[in-house]
Amino acid sequence: MQGLIPAAGGGTRLGPFTNAIPKELLPVGNKAVIEHVVEAMRLADITEIVIVVSPHKHGLSDYLGSGRRFGVNLTYVVQDERKGLADAVLSGEHVINGSFVVVLGDNFFRPKEFLKDLILYHVNERADATIGVAEVEDVTRHGIIMPEDNGIADIIEKPSVEEAPSTLGAIGAYVFEKFIFDAIRETKPGHKGEYQLTDSVKVAIDQERRVLYKKIDGIHIDVGTPADLMRANKWYINNENSR
Ligand code: UTP
Repeated sequence: MQGLIPAAGGGTRLGPFTNAIPKELLPVGNKAVIEHVVEAMRLADITEIVIVVSPHKHGLSDYLGSGRRFGVNLTYVVQDERKGLADAVLSGEHVINGSFVVVLGDNFFRPKEFLKDLILYHVNERADATIGVAEVEDVTRHGIIMPEDNGIADIIEKPSVEEAPSTLGAIGAYVFEKFIFDAIRETKPGHKGEYQLTDSVKVAIDQERRVLYKKIDGIHIDVGTPADLMRANKWYINNENSR
């Protein structure tokens, strides 16, 4: 299985730092947030990893390099225009050979082993897509699922509190079969006028694909705002800081 890490967003909520530094390179403890993602992938035996960057984000390849020092092989692909997360995933189509795991490059997870269970579940269940979810405090920041047995009956991107079909939200980790690229091509622009991955998952559900969810336990911080960046670092200092 390969890995794909979208890291081509604008990071406007973390400006002005992100005028100079991709937000995925901001530090959580002594590592860039994306480095924690690469490390988690390697722990799940994912060593072929595709990083999706924007045309101007040379900082990511400067920092991560070939991936050799993390024990992985990194390939960089460019998302030509910032058209949303689904479009970022589609940018990797030409280098993805089969099943692949997607983890957002600005998300911090603990324990580091969180990906293994998600992948094992997807493989054992012969799913077409498996969405990592957790109970979320703020439904308006996530794709929220309507669970049905172990499957997903519906998923809504950033619903209002009233619209939300549950409090189980997608938290930035997914496993897909290659069909998802076709589903993305059929996806219409949604929230913020961008191609949302949540909407592509909805297309897959409507095509009666086997779309499952798996709860991910532990710490999950979407490092999207200064407060989130502080929270992630506070967690790190309290729990893992050894120097
Ligand atoms: P976000 O929506 O949190 O990132 O995307 P953003 O657009 O950079 O943030 P703001 O709203 O401007 O502050 C989640 C992940 O998806 C990637 C981002 O890099 C981030 O890792 N992404 C998002 C892309 O790769 N391409 C896109 O077009 C959008």
